[in-house]
Amino acid sequence: MFAINSRSYLLPNVVMRMLFIRKISSSSSYITEFQSLLGNENVQTNDLDSFNQDWLKSHRGKSDIVLFPRNTNDVSNILGYCNQNNLKCVIQSGNTSLVCGATPWQNEIIISMKKLNKILSFDEITGVLHCESGCILQNLEEFVKQKQRLIPYDLGAKGSCMIGGNLATNAGGLRFIKFGPLHSNVLGLEIVMANGKILNLMNSMRKDNTGYHLRHLFIGSEGTLGIITKVSIICPMDYKFKKIFLVACENFNKLIELFQMVQEDFNENLSCFEMMDESSMNVVVENLRLPYPLSRSYPFYSLFELSANDELSLDQRFTKHYEKLVNKSIILDGTYANDSDSEKFHKLKSYRESISEGLRLDGCSYKYDVSLPLNVYYEVVNVMRKRLSSSLSSSNNVVRICGYGHMGDGNMHFNVTSKKFDQQILNQIEPFLYEFVAKNNGSISAEHGIGVKKRKFLHYSKSDEAIKLMQQMKQLFDPKSILNPHVLF
Ligand code: FAD
Ligand code: MLT
Ligand code: ZN
Repeated sequence: MFAINSRSYLLPNVVMRMLFIRKISSSSSYITEFQSLLGNENVQTNDLDSFNQDWLKSHRGKSDIVLFPRNTNDVSNILGYCNQNNLKCVIQSGNTSLVCGATPWQNEIIISMKKLNKILSFDEITGVLHCESGCILQNLEEFVKQKQRLIPYDLGAKGSCMIGGNLATNAGGLRFIKFGPLHSNVLGLEIVMANGKILNLMNSMRKDNTGYHLRHLFIGSEGTLGIITKVSIICPMDYKFKKIFLVACENFNKLIELFQMVQEDFNENLSCFEMMDESSMNVVVENLRLPYPLSRSYPFYSLFELSANDELSLDQRFTKHYEKLVNKSIILDGTYANDSDSEKFHKLKSYRESISEGLRLDGCSYKYDVSLPLNVYYEVVNVMRKRLSSSLSSSNNVVRICGYGHMGDGNMHFNVTSKKFDQQILNQIEPFLYEFVAKNNGSISAEHGIGVKKRKFLHYSKSDEAIKLMQQMKQLFDPKSILNPHVLF
């Protein structure tokens, strides 16, 4: 009895040791291989915390290696080797994903795109920018601003997110209402396929009807079909003058009326229309220590931007518009800034842009980014608030329930925070929230993507047939599933 027990106890230990030795030797052999492919300085095997940790600090991966390709050929060599040796990878640009898309789920090899950061060319007449995919959004914005152009999207994460990450997630952000999705502005891409082959889809022409529009498959594919290495994007002319308005309303219906009136009066001048509720404003005031921007706290706010070339006429039109808003009791209070007063302009914008940072400081964020028709856009917050307050006790540590978002395009960011992660809170939100969204024909992800976090809820927004087709595409592009193997499916 004893002998059998001790053998069965010992055997797994021996096997474990052998497996351990195999893992070490195989991982050290691929590390050596990557070092010879990329040079030692482009292979990092220690101090990997910031690469393994997601932005929300909700998940920590266990990868022991980060690769820094310097150009398309490096990416091609890496994937060629990984595909041959069945090594799984996760692609990381700015690592600002809010759905754990860019951090290893297990111990995948991290491919960091930060060294592919060159601006390749800019056409002053057409506004077409060619760049590598690891360019930081803010750097691109600053570059094209000197040419009186702008990047047709704008995110709070612009200081760290990269254009390749933006395309892979089909990021939305603040200018969506004016310029639409990235699909309408991206003219071409260069992709490295899972087997290492380079697919050149670079293009500078706006019109091209020569068969399937392959580039669109990669926009929003969250790194599951290939690695974006180069981008060609059209940068529209910037307006000479911009004004940002922060106004307060008594209730959500007044915000809808405001949205309608601003569209009627300013149409092509409207470049963003955002909303936030009182609780969202409070998180910025409390956690980031900003003063209330208006004379006191209000139930709802809108932040909207108007742009024009003729400042005088914009001012005159706005004076009339403002009188109408006040006479009809649409707004209770408001302030504005011209972009010539850069400090005030960016300060006003930051009340909206820094909400996610403020929420992160509460502890744990349960973050949702759904699309909903305007008639139920804010109802989701009311419904969830009621549900959470009746089902959870005070011991559940809910700090805040709030709603803010890109109201101009129907994208609501419903968020709950607690001091620490609490499974009971999560169970009260999911799948109830997604059922609400599906019942109202919305989308469970308007912009952040599915990543790893929302995989099991994909069916609320996609039919079985559509998911099957997506899986077949994944099989065709990446048969060994080496690219972001835990993302999306
Ligand atoms: P990462 O987080 O590094 O990667 C995102 C996904 O794309 C991952 O799945 C990754 O594997 C894949 N990927 C990255 N690079 C490539 C590549 N070159 N080729 C193929 N796949 C790749 N999102 C919005 O849509 N709108 C917003 O307004 C917005 N605001 C934000 C504000 C803050 C403060 C934060 C933290 C995030 C915000 N996000 C927003 C979410 C996030 O910034 C976006 O998803 C952004 O586009 C990700 O870019 P990134 O460079 O950080 O990509
Ligand atoms: C935003 O619009 O602020 C971003 O999408 C980030 C978030 O949802 O918190
Ligand atoms: Zn957003």
